[in-house]
Amino acid sequence: MGDRVIAIDGPAASGKSTVAELVAEKLSIPYINTGNMYRAVTLGALRAGIDLKTKCDEASFSRLFKNLQLDYKRNAAGCYEIELNGEFPGNAIRSPEVASFVSPVAALPIVRSWLSQKQRDFAALGMIVMEGRDIGTVIFPESRFKFFLTATPEARARRRLAQDGENFDGATLESVAAAIAERDRIDSTRKVAPLKPAVDAEIVDTTEMTIDEVVDYISGRIMHYEDSRDDVSGAVR
Ligand code: DC
Repeated sequence: MGDRVIAIDGPAASGKSTVAELVAEKLSIPYINTGNMYRAVTLGALRAGIDLKTKCDEASFSRLFKNLQLDYKRNAAGCYEIELNGEFPGNAIRSPEVASFVSPVAALPIVRSWLSQKQRDFAALGMIVMEGRDIGTVIFPESRFKFFLTATPEARARRRLAQDGENFDGATLESVAAAIAERDRIDSTRKVAPLKPAVDAEIVDTTEMTIDEVVDYISGRIMHYEDSRDDVSGAVR
C-alpha cells in the first residue's frame, strides 16, 4: 500500500514542509508532516514534567506513552493537523524549547517505533504526501516516489528566519545556521533511522530554486509517472 506514498525527505529548513504541502494541494491529496509528530511528542514530554536535560531516555518515554494521545485530525479548514491529548497544540510545537530537545528525543528507538507505526497507518489513506527524514528509507521503502531535498546551510538559515510561526528570539543568521547544522549532525549520525537519502531517491538541490519551481518539478515528475500508467492516472488529479 505504501508504494503510493510520495516521500519527501531532507534536512531542517530545506524547504520540504512548504514544498510537500503545496505538492499535496496541487494533487488534491492529504499531507502529513512527520517532524510535527516528533515535535508534539517532545512537547507532550515537557508538559508531562519530564526534565529532558537529564531524563531523555527510554524509561521516561515508555511511561509517557501509557498516557499520551497523538493523532492527526482534520482541522476546521479540512487539513490534517497534529492533535495532542485532545487539542491542537498549534505553534507551541515550534517553540525554541521544543526545537532544542526534539533531536535527542527523535534519536530514541522507543519514540521512533511508537511514531513509525502511526505513520505507516496513513498508507490506508491511499495516495498521500509524507514529509520527514526517513520516509523513503524506513517508513515507506516501497514508495515509488522518493525525493530528498537539500540546500546550503546559509540558504536554509535564511528560510528558517523568514518562516512564519518560528519564534527565534534575537536569532542571527549565524546562530540559526549553527543550530541547524547541529540538528543535522544529530539527525544524520544517530543509530536509528539516520537522515540520509534512500538509494533510489531523487536528490533535489533547492538552493537556487524558488518554491514554485520545486513544487512544479516534483508534481510534474509524479504526474508524468502516473500518466504513463493508464490504470492509475485518474487517481492523482
Ligand atoms: O522537520 P522538523 O525540523 O520539524 O523535524 C523536527 C525533528 O524531528 C528533527 O530534529 C528531525 C526529527 N525527525 C525525524 O527524526 N524523523 C522524521 N521523520 C521527521 C523529523
